[in-house]
Amino acid sequence: MRMSVIGCGYLGAVHAACMADLGHEVVGIDVDPGKIEMLASGHAPFFEPGLPEALRRALDSGRLRFSTDPADAAGAQVHFVAVGTPQTAGSDAADLTYVDAAVQGLLPHLADGDLVVGKSTVPVGTASRLADLVRASSGADLAWNPEFLREGFAVADTVSPDRFVYGVPSGDAGERATAVLDEVYATALATGTPRLVTDYATAELVKVSANAFLATKISFINAMAEIAEATGADVTQLADAIGHDARIGRRFLNAGLGFGGGCLPKDIRAFQARSRELGLESLDFLADVDAVNLRRRDRVVALADELLGGHVRGQRVAVLGVAFKPDSDDVRDSPALDVARRLHAAGAEVVVFDPEANHTAARIAPDLSYVDDAASALSGADLVLVLTEWKQFKALRPADVLPLVAHPRLVDARNVLDPAAWRDAGFEYRALGRP
Ligand code: UDX
Repeated sequence: MRMSVIGCGYLGAVHAACMADLGHEVVGIDVDPGKIEMLASGHAPFFEPGLPEALRRALDSGRLRFSTDPADAAGAQVHFVAVGTPQTAGSDAADLTYVDAAVQGLLPHLADGDLVVGKSTVPVGTASRLADLVRASSGADLAWNPEFLREGFAVADTVSPDRFVYGVPSGDAGERATAVLDEVYATALATGTPRLVTDYATAELVKVSANAFLATKISFINAMAEIAEATGADVTQLADAIGHDARIGRRFLNAGLGFGGGCLPKDIRAFQARSRELGLESLDFLADVDAVNLRRRDRVVALADELLGGHVRGQRVAVLGVAFKPDSDDVRDSPALDVARRLHAAGAEVVVFDPEANHTAARIAPDLSYVDDAASALSGADLVLVLTEWKQFKALRPADVLPLVAHPRLVDARNVLDPAAWRDAGFEYRALGRP
């Protein structure tokens, strides 16, 4: 099947590569010539395990090409819209500029019977507005097919997702759209992947409510961490114990520095903003979810200050991890980078090592020092902060770290180290929600 993918960021680049790898004829289109040049030469513009391989296979097959010209979408039957919907400057609402521009750019190149498929995360009501526009100007149909991919697992989540959701219009147009999407996703559907066909509003809401639920789950356990800190309880044991209840489940109950990234923070804000626009108070609790999350960053800065005896200025702080989560080089709304910058602003000499995100962090925080390995960051440190739970940081051994640092002090902001082992080795060890 011939398809175009408009927007080649985290979502679109992976989608384009995976669809071509599955056997479709794909053109990926983006306004950024640098990104298109990289992708066309087989290089992923960001770190995503498995993407370079999928990209290479797809390019070698001749089924994948990239372009900056929207006219190259002409001739495809299906057009995926996979552009970003960032937070609007000065407001909590989603910025739909890119989605609107992508659809406007497509209109002159659509043919009767084409299907435009929205994948971007949008405020409820967007799909129906865009469907009217698409239908009126071209006779094409529109479906909303939200994407649930996680960074670090984007290829697997695209090729074999937990479920497909198709938001389609009623009647014949909806049946046509469903049949087309079934053909697009035939490989995964053949393995029994669940697929739910809904109206537009439901499909849009599935995505934002899934992210709101996940953010709430994380902030719930982080609120428990605050209670644990006040009472001497251990939030990791608490999470294990409540997680054994299958109705609760242990996943997404890791207390620590909280959530960041390009999705959860802006999605909960946009969702709440949309509910207020609808005159509803239903999602006001998401402001608390956001506040609990941001307080964890304050807590780590306060712990650093405490361990340094109230004198942050001039102290050497080793920051292990600045990506918003492991297996990613993404530092958008990264809690780790936020903490690093705040300590730098307070006068600390912050030395950062992240296995993949040094270069992305340096772009927005050039004042911090970046080094190429953990040992260089640890060398002479007055304080060590583990801020992103990369596998290699989880494997750190106190006996190896001790000879490197100037003072054995450590904040385990992701609760991934063994407190007893570090304390026994002589470290002043502090974590979040654990004694
Ligand atoms: C998220 C959703 O999971 C995905 O379905 C959606 O499509 C996009 O947004 P992603 O942003 O890649 O994906 O990250 P995710 O794995 O959800 O983690 C989000 C943040 O929560 C990270 O900063 C992570 O460190 C944090 N987190 C996650 C916790 O603090 N505790 C947990 O238990 C789990």
